[in-house]
Amino acid sequence: MKYIFKTMIIAILISLTFINIEPMAHADQDAKWEKIKESGELRVGLSADYAPFEFEKTVKGKSEYAGIDIDLAKKIAKDNHLKLKIVNMQFDSLLGALKTGKIDVIISGMTSTPERKKEVDFSDSYTKTGNVMLIRKSDKNKFHTLKDFSNKKVAAQKGTEQEKIAQQEIENADISSLNRLPDAILAVKSNKVEGLVIEKPVAEAYVKQNNSLMIANVNFNEEKKDNVIAVPKNSPILLANVNKSIKEVNDQHLISKYMDKASKDMQDDSSFFDKYGAFFIKGLKNTILISMIGVVLGAVLGALIALAKLSKFKLLSWIASIYIEFLRGTPMLVQVFLVFFGTTAVLGLDVSALVCGTIALVINSSAYIAEIFRAGINAVDKGQTEAAQCLGLNYSKTMRYIILPQAIKNILPALGNEFVTLIKESSIVSTIGVGEIMFNAQVVQGISFDPFTPLIIAAIMYFVLTFTLSRGMSLIEGRMKASD
Ligand code: ARG
Repeated sequence: MKYIFKTMIIAILISLTFINIEPMAHADQDAKWEKIKESGELRVGLSADYAPFEFEKTVKGKSEYAGIDIDLAKKIAKDNHLKLKIVNMQFDSLLGALKTGKIDVIISGMTSTPERKKEVDFSDSYTKTGNVMLIRKSDKNKFHTLKDFSNKKVAAQKGTEQEKIAQQEIENADISSLNRLPDAILAVKSNKVEGLVIEKPVAEAYVKQNNSLMIANVNFNEEKKDNVIAVPKNSPILLANVNKSIKEVNDQHLISKYMDKASKDMQDDSSFFDKYGAFFIKGLKNTILISMIGVVLGAVLGALIALAKLSKFKLLSWIASIYIEFLRGTPMLVQVFLVFFGTTAVLGLDVSALVCGTIALVINSSAYIAEIFRAGINAVDKGQTEAAQCLGLNYSKTMRYIILPQAIKNILPALGNEFVTLIKESSIVSTIGVGEIMFNAQVVQGISFDPFTPLIIAAIMYFVLTFTLSRGMSLIEGRMKASD
């Protein structure tokens, strides 16, 4: 008997150590809230491609966020005496950013769903929206019920409820999930898909600005759902404060006021360049900045890595090889996300998207540049080293005075090419919200409701940059040849 009792207790103790006892959240304990209070700043994550909820508008050549969610965010910040910081990124990156602590709340027209509730906590509802199908006006007579879309191509924004609804309600639909809403609109306009599943107020905003589009006369089974604010789990005080502001908003019917303001903000009659020129110029500056830092620091780091790889110390040369192979063998997009989320999740640092993007570019280019250096050095005739050694020069002197000056002639043109590549690749950091050319083109797509023109402008800007650069490089190369 005693024996059984003893084993039972031991068994219970052992199993207890394996059960993950979740720390109970006390209503008066909230580390997240403490942190926010301490910083004096509320970081609100959103995807500003979603008028009338959130979009960017221009005021005297400067961009500003506007929309229902922005007004709501402003109210919450003000009610709690906090400064508001908007962090704009792709919708499907928001949950990750909230969980890793990049942002404090999500206010992005987000729908409350059971799946998401497992990951984050939701506030009370501040509005309800239903879904519609956006189509081309010219197809008006083609679609009468949802069934007419079966086996057809239909678009939805990636990571949204609409993506799921399209899967559930349209039989055999071929769904294109696009990261950004303007891309999805463009897909409809350019006949890539037959329709776009989208929330009603957003569809109405787009229809107002695009007379080739309309809302199809078909109904979804999915009923209207709550739009809510997401906060990290176990942040009871933050949640309570958010709910307090929402209650006021609901009691005073502020959402309809915010909505009226948003509709006004969406209209503006000045010319395309007046309205959006500033975005492209800002983007141009940032693209040049990050690519320059990318090549310059990338070259410094790359040179060290090339020397490490050429070193006689096996271990050093090994590490350098692994570094180079890893960076060349993984997509830049993945590297960008690793730096972006890794800095907070692993290192616990709060680093801006611009800095993260630049770091990712430097690291990525350093691997390619290391190979450029190594090839450049190897291409110098062996006889040169031998001759230098005969003259009694040591390794570092041989490198400095004999090999490197000659290697530079091989290296420079390749470095120029790397610069050109980097300018183009830098567009990838737009995914984490770095305000370079592509990012701003996407912003303009969102505000102007014109998905095409901003892309053309971005393409021209990249081309002018890279073309001038490669012309400049060939001039320099020509000079160098002449000096031989
Ligand atoms: N309400 C939808 C959802 O939560 C879509 C929200 C998309 N928001 C945005 N800012 N793009 O899935």
